[in-house]
Amino acid sequence: MNKIKIVDFETLNEKTPYHHQVNGLDLVLIRYDNQVSVLYGRCLHRGALMADGHIDGQNLICGVHGWDYRYDTGISAYNNDEALYKFHAEIKEGWVYLEEDEINQYLKSHPQPFDRNIYLGQYADTNPEDTEPYTGYIRELSRNGLKNYGHHGPSAAMGVDRNTLPKWEEIQFLPAQLAKRPLLDEVEVKTQLVIGQNAKGHCFWKCPFCFRHELWGIV
Ligand code: FES
Repeated sequence: MNKIKIVDFETLNEKTPYHHQVNGLDLVLIRYDNQVSVLYGRCLHRGALMADGHIDGQNLICGVHGWDYRYDTGISAYNNDEALYKFHAEIKEGWVYLEEDEINQYLKSHPQPFDRNIYLGQYADTNPEDTEPYTGYIRELSRNGLKNYGHHGPSAAMGVDRNTLPKWEEIQFLPAQLAKRPLLDEVEVKTQLVIGQNAKGHCFWKCPFCFRHELWGIV
């Protein structure tokens, strides 16, 4: 097992998060009671660096939205399912050592999305959410401008997805009398239907069962 020497223990201040990177994996180190806790260094919420957070009581708090993890175990007291992986660390002759195989194994099972050679690559969102749909878009524009979209910017075919429009069953019509005042109950109302000013009513069928043509005055 290959041990790697990562930091002089005496340079770590008590209960202060430190960032360290091994083989491209971000770690956070916290010294406490003459021990050291080495945890996965990215918040499980949106991937912020945990070393940018702070310690509050028993917890390491993410500096972005405040997710908490116990600094000695990596497990969140708020939700035990949220846990930063804790790596085996050893203090020997004043230095903190880690096991490289464990780091590499972790990297294999948790590929990291960071490309530190590109603009803002250090801050890739590890867990994009619907609540912030434009983060990726803004990031793309900040890195590449309109290079990948063309000089007109993002464009799409004309038309609107009908599922995004109000549907007929969601529309309620409220009839109202606008042009003329409604008649009172006792006023007689003609029900004859006249289609067009000069139209002569005509019923093709004059059905003996229906008789509506007579009712409507259609000849
Ligand atoms: S990124 Fe850490 S709490 Fe949101």
